[in-house]
Amino acid sequence: MAVERTFSIVKPDAVGKNVIGKIYSRFEENGLRIVAAKMLQLSEEVAGGFYAEHRERPFFPALIEFMTSGPVLVQVLEGENAIAKNRELMGATNPQEADAGTIRADFAESIDANAVHGSDSPASAAREIAYFFAASEICDRA
Ligand code: PPS
Repeated sequence: MAVERTFSIVKPDAVGKNVIGKIYSRFEENGLRIVAAKMLQLSEEVAGGFYAEHRERPFFPALIEFMTSGPVLVQVLEGENAIAKNRELMGATNPQEADAGTIRADFAESIDANAVHGSDSPASAAREIAYFFAASEICDRA
């Protein structure tokens, strides 16, 4: 199986609930290694650029307001099938539809405030990692 990298965000609701460590444990206990991480307060410009593909969607203004409402943690996860594995660990976008035991089922309240983001394809992962991290900020596997 291929070792991949994916991009992940612990969103403001989860940071506010003080569950960063619990979410990181889900990654680590399921074969994903954190190879880059930083805490940031996103500006409207940075959040808007990140979610540019959703700019025309009705929820876009609320999404940007939420993502700039408090600090986030951004990280690069590495492991076998990291992109699909992280999506599996996250659960469905709407926490009400997320499988039991997933991050969103356990830590998220609503589709607007759903605890985590994860890249949905290799192309998205490459774009999103490069949006937040310089190559020099990503550590090789130990
Ligand atoms: S969709 O509807 O299939 O395009 O949704 P998706 O690509 O999974 O993600 C859309 C991102 O916007 C956030 N968001 C919402 N999505 C749908 N409906 C509402 N009301 C909404 N509000 C916010 C959703 O959490 C996704 O964010 P990320 O960070 O990509 O997971």
